[in-house]
Amino acid sequence: MHRLFSRKSPQQIMSDTDGGSHQLKRVLGPVNLVSLGIGVVIGAGIFVLTGQAAASYAGPAIVLSFIISAIGCALAGLCYAEFASMIPLSGSAYTYAYATLGELFAWIIGWELVLEYLLGASTVAVGWSGYVVGFLKDLGITIPAAIAHAPLAYSVGHGWHATGALFNGPAIFIVGLMSTLLVIGIHESAKFNSIIVFIKLTVIFLFVVFGIFYVKYVNWVPFIPPNTGHWGYFGWSGILRGSSVIFFAYIGFDAVSTAAQEAKNPKRDMPIGILGSLAICSILFILVAGIMTGIAKYSTLTGDAPLADAVTAAGPGLSWLRPFINIGIIGGLSSVILVLLMGQPRIFFSMARDGLLPMSFARVHPKFKTPYITTILTGIVASVMAGLFPISILGLMVNIGTLFAFLIVCISILFLRYHHPELKPAFRTPWVPFVPILGAVVIVMQMLALPGDTWIRFLVWNIIGLAVYFGYSRHHSRLRTAEQGIVAGRRSDA
Ligand code: ALA
Repeated sequence: MHRLFSRKSPQQIMSDTDGGSHQLKRVLGPVNLVSLGIGVVIGAGIFVLTGQAAASYAGPAIVLSFIISAIGCALAGLCYAEFASMIPLSGSAYTYAYATLGELFAWIIGWELVLEYLLGASTVAVGWSGYVVGFLKDLGITIPAAIAHAPLAYSVGHGWHATGALFNGPAIFIVGLMSTLLVIGIHESAKFNSIIVFIKLTVIFLFVVFGIFYVKYVNWVPFIPPNTGHWGYFGWSGILRGSSVIFFAYIGFDAVSTAAQEAKNPKRDMPIGILGSLAICSILFILVAGIMTGIAKYSTLTGDAPLADAVTAAGPGLSWLRPFINIGIIGGLSSVILVLLMGQPRIFFSMARDGLLPMSFARVHPKFKTPYITTILTGIVASVMAGLFPISILGLMVNIGTLFAFLIVCISILFLRYHHPELKPAFRTPWVPFVPILGAVVIVMQMLALPGDTWIRFLVWNIIGLAVYFGYSRHHSRLRTAEQGIVAGRRSDA
């Protein structure tokens, strides 16, 4: 039983990765890392889900939802930064849990990270598809609805039902394209990412600088619309539900930690990458959410492209921005998909190296030096999910899994301080235990604010994960095999 909680020491984790044929190229500096963070953070959350969450749950007070979520992420981010500076490996929270809470928790975290990265990429791909379809329509090109939407939808009253569409073609296309780029190599992909981040920031800058003159004070009144009588629909409970929905917007600053093995100076640059991208994005989100609900009444922001709809609603003085916004968002969402698809194989890589997944998952391409097998596998599964399911279902699954991973990272810091007081990481989480405990409280609140059907799917996902662990991973774990070897050795000595 205790073997389920076998831990790797941080020193052991580091030495496990020395040498061998599974080395990734170290090419990323601090600017690349912050850019990597921004590249994945600013995406479908702010461009699609914010308007929808304001319309359905929080009204203009969605700004407060962003502040709550930013607090939770900053507290978790401080914990991530300590781990990433100390254990700069590509497994992110999975590796941190292995060093502190042990193998079973590490496995569970790895399983949640599949929701964050793989399903996250599918979610953003669906958002990308919505903007592309809208943009082409503005140009007079119509993609038939049958091949541009999910065939399945879910609503609380009606359960699952068919929409009449066959598959979401553009979403499948973009996942395929980004996966191909990633197989070719990180260096080229990081350059591509920097250009797109620049375009995306320019678009946000234009929206804020021009949009602010079109804010109508009346749209912000009432700032907190009264609760409808149902928990989560406006009022303070709506703000909390809103924060658990727009949490998606923040996802990804932690993706910086998955690139630790490709960072030139991970000890110094991991905290800069994680906390820097989080700080920049929080400010931009609060500005965008405030201006969006200021120039258009929140109840109108229900469509697939709320930001573009908001500038159109403001009138001709602002609607000239629409094509620029569309193009920037289409480019911006591409970079999010890219970074999410890049994070997933790196987590599989770490899990395979530990024996919890087949060793072929850790194979690096001899020429491109990328984990090509898992990149291709991730691309195939992510495109199938993106082709079949709507953004709302995918997004909430991503949120619940990621919140859970953040929760474990907060708890892991407490264990780390207890088990390894001797370690001196380059970056230390301040005010332990208050920061991790407060982080855990905010995260649990957000998890509890998610709808019941999301919780059911989450439980099913985890039951499958535990079945894989007990059916395969537990028997192939390198740590366990090594421990058994030592015990057997001691017995034969006796
Ligand atoms: N935070 C990323 C987005 O909003 C995942 O698209």
